[in-house]
Amino acid sequence: MAAEKPTILVTGGAGYIGSHAAIALQRGGYDVVILDNLVYGHRDIVETVLGVELVVGDTRDRPLLDDLFASRNIAAIMHFAAFAYVGESVENPAKYYDNNVVGTLTLLEAAIAVNIKKFVFSSTCATYGVPDTIPIPETHPQNPINPYGASKKMVERILQDFDTAYGLQSVTFRYFNAAGADPEGNLGEDHDPETHLIPLVLFAALGKRDNIAIFGTDYPTPDGTCIRDYIHVTDLASAHVLGLKYLLDGGESAIFNLGNGNGFSVRQVIETARRVTQREIVAVERDRRPGDPPQLVGSGEKAQKMLGWNPKYADLNDIIAHAWQWHQQRHG
Ligand code: UFG
Repeated sequence: MAAEKPTILVTGGAGYIGSHAAIALQRGGYDVVILDNLVYGHRDIVETVLGVELVVGDTRDRPLLDDLFASRNIAAIMHFAAFAYVGESVENPAKYYDNNVVGTLTLLEAAIAVNIKKFVFSSTCATYGVPDTIPIPETHPQNPINPYGASKKMVERILQDFDTAYGLQSVTFRYFNAAGADPEGNLGEDHDPETHLIPLVLFAALGKRDNIAIFGTDYPTPDGTCIRDYIHVTDLASAHVLGLKYLLDGGESAIFNLGNGNGFSVRQVIETARRVTQREIVAVERDRRPGDPPQLVGSGEKAQKMLGWNPKYADLNDIIAHAWQWHQQRHG
């Protein structure tokens, strides 16, 4: 008889990164249950693409979590559910601390109560703030400059303390700039509102917007625009499956950056998108957007060494080509 597949709870599985992780888990031989409050997630993605169970609910709803855990045999949790708009977090920090910190704490307490002690957490390079060294190592000091980054840093601390006190083992991934889409074209990025560079550049290519604004041209970088490390969402997803396996095999709590170690400026992204789409993309130069560090580039070496992570789509052309395929289909 075939061994039963472990069931993984994926919070935020109807969202961008969570849905890509859910498909990677399925392909990797796991059963998936998604918990998503559908504030930003997409029911149609779960129902028509993933075809897994969707529990519509909030991580702050302890009775709902207790019911969910009592009626299913959950081996581990992958926790993506969070708000992630940096600008909004500055204007409305309460919303971010409530959802991202209180929500995670509630989820962790419910998990501990039923002895679920394997947890994969979605953190961010925004926990570092403005870096002193590039590429940023995992040991770099964490001084977030916005409430979004601070909320994720707080959860990292909670995880450390829960390990010491309750034996909760966690893998934390600090992502650089998630981008791209499922190479098979089934999934992609669909935020509303959309604030991220690559989708907005592609909206300009599709004619859904007149132009793309370049936020700041006087940064201390070679072409004056901000540099980011764009990491393909499918590569993020594969790291999560490896991180989960590491925990299920008895690995100790660990923290990993997920980046390619390679930065691209805003102008380079726009130029690459022009080549990939073969469309005209009008760029207009604007003032800096508050809170943007000039350069964020991270090394994924630790994940490569310890987890055997092997990013397949580090080329910016592939990242943009896959995003383009998705946006043409979803928004074209
Ligand atoms: N940018 C533009 N024009 C736009 C949108 C963005 O020039 O219309 C620039 C930004 O100023 C930035 C770069 O493009 O320099 C990338 O911006 P994104 O909004 O795509 O991504 P961020 O780097 O701001 O944000 C990402 C994640 C956050 C995370 C943050 C860490 O989306 O979750 O990295 O700083 F917190």
